Amino acid sequence: MKNILEKLYKYNDLSPEELLEIITYFNYSDPERLFFYAQRTREKVYGKKVYMRGLIEFSNYCKQNCLYCGLRRENKNVERYRLSLEEIMECCQEGYQLGYRTFVLQSGEDIFYDDDKICRIIKAIREKFSDVAITLSIGEREKKSYRKYFEAGADRYLLRHETASEDLYKKFHPTMNIVSRQNCLQELKEIGFQTGAGFMVGLPGQRDENLVEDLLFLKRLQPHMVGIGPFIPHGETPLGCEVGGTVAKTLIMLALTRLLLPNVLLPATTAMGTLDPIGREKALKAGANVVMPNLSPISVREKYEIYQGKICTGDESAHCRSCIETRIHQAGFEVDLSRGDHITIGGKQ
Ligand code: 5AD
Ligand code: SF4
Ligand code: FES
Repeated sequence: MKNILEKLYKYNDLSPEELLEIITYFNYSDPERLFFYAQRTREKVYGKKVYMRGLIEFSNYCKQNCLYCGLRRENKNVERYRLSLEEIMECCQEGYQLGYRTFVLQSGEDIFYDDDKICRIIKAIREKFSDVAITLSIGEREKKSYRKYFEAGADRYLLRHETASEDLYKKFHPTMNIVSRQNCLQELKEIGFQTGAGFMVGLPGQRDENLVEDLLFLKRLQPHMVGIGPFIPHGETPLGCEVGGTVAKTLIMLALTRLLLPNVLLPATTAMGTLDPIGREKALKAGANVVMPNLSPISVREKYEIYQGKICTGDESAHCRSCIETRIHQAGFEVDLSRGDHITIGGKQ
């Protein structure tokens, strides 16, 4: 194992067989060495910095029906909401005062926000806060729509690939298909977005071989960001009684992602903090370098319930802001409040 790890650290690449060997090996062995190499790799590129992104969940309507997600359209027990442009701007204002210079606008796939509405939101933020990065996370749209958003001033786009396994993708996404999803990611990159992919760990029936597929997919796509979190069963979904993913396994996948894509921006996700009170800190120590505290109005937070037990739903944005800062420091890292662009981007300042 030592040789494979050293090879991975040195070349940032491995064969599919070697990747499988590593993942299965760490199912039963102490991953300390793996995390050590992942940390060193992160440190060479980004030092001890942890980038902050303010997350605004502006609509929980969704036309899709992903089997794992609490916001799926067949879940009738969700109180749906949409934020107006004014409400979104208020979140940004508060976020800006708290020091955030990246806003992530996230929603279900909600076509109420057509291209004009999305562009209006982007332009309003751009106009008022000229030095922020704008990230969209609103699902699959046409390439020409993506282009409009980019031209309106959006810089980044998050669209997790969810799983690179064709079988699993089919099983969990009755209303979607894997080819369109992966095409969207390709298009976003072509347009010039800093693009984020990502996947869930511990989906029912997911095998180590499938996780290798996820890593190989990332290696091919070369995204700027990768969001990885454990699957957490939600009682109001068809997967409510399934077993969820673990923090331990997710940490292995974070570390491997860091080693395969040394420059990647890798969030310590809220799902990690939900399963383990210090899950995000553990993620930082396994190679993650981004956190995304919530900036949504308190009144809607509980309604954006992708999975149950989500942390921070009762906490003011200012509380999360200082909470996360303390946690980052205690874990031995530094808060960086700049836009935090990918290392290959000059920065559209
Ligand atoms: N558990 C963990 N993550 C989930 N997501 C959706 N549902 C769940 C769940 N039950 C993730 C998906 C989606 C992101 C916004 O949240 O990966 O892309
Ligand atoms: Fe909608 Fe995203 Fe949930 Fe799927 S994962 S149901 S697309 S919000
Ligand atoms: Fe929200 Fe700690 S980050 S309460």
